Amino acid sequence: MRIVLIGAPGAGKGTQAKVISNKFNIPHISTGDILRNEINKGSELGKKAVKFVESGKLVPDEIIIEIIKNMIRKSRSENGFLMDGFPRNLKQAKMFSSTLDHLGIKLDKVINIVVDKDEIISRLGKRRTCNVCKSVFSINNNNENFIKCPECGGDLIKRKDDDVEVIKHRLEVYESETRPLINFYTDKGLLVNIDGSGEEKEITERILKFL
Ligand code: AP5
Repeated sequence: MRIVLIGAPGAGKGTQAKVISNKFNIPHISTGDILRNEINKGSELGKKAVKFVESGKLVPDEIIIEIIKNMIRKSRSENGFLMDGFPRNLKQAKMFSSTLDHLGIKLDKVINIVVDKDEIISRLGKRRTCNVCKSVFSINNNNENFIKCPECGGDLIKRKDDDVEVIKHRLEVYESETRPLINFYTDKGLLVNIDGSGEEKEITERILKFL
């Protein structure tokens, strides 16, 4: 199974990707997670990426394309992959298509998770990530004092790009750079729009109907 998940920041791509990649036993390839990991390690790649990621800008295509080529090579012998956060603009999408064509690989579906802007801003304001196991949580009125990860006891931290001004910039970048992918994949007959509002499980069910 070869799946691409697209959608605005905070639409729930990462949340759904974890469930779906487990269900189909395929690697979850999140360019955002890969970049944050490199930044945390202080690698050369991380040093190049940090200013883009923390300010909500897209990391230059050359860096992303190199990451993805390595990941595709690695996952070639596996059952497929689930891309989360890639491609992010038309240049990346075209490069991805030609790499897959070259390898004789076809995508099965591109899932576009659709959530309205107010809900996105609310979700990202509440998001916390465990600094140890990287699990993602949402704090709300009932649990806003919970600062330790219920899975492993690590500290829960707010992503730097979940600052409200950076969120607004990420949404602008999404509109100008990423939204055009909807037409690109519609024209290829691959796109499925999924209503991303409601409970996480309901959204998973909606996605699974198409896979
Ligand atoms: P990336 O990490 O990909 O961020 P993003 O696309 O902005 O998406 P998010 O991770 O913010 O949100 P999500 O849709 O995964 O939502 P989540 O499931 O966490 O990229 C970060 C940065 O890296 C980019 O800005 C860029 O700089 C760089 N980058 C990455 N890829 C790149 C590329 N290809 N090219 C160039 N640069 C690149 O959910 C959000 C919150 O909502 C969570 O708290 C979750 O618990 C909660 N939630 C989820 N579902 C629900 C629900 N149904 N109801 C209520 N709450 C929910």
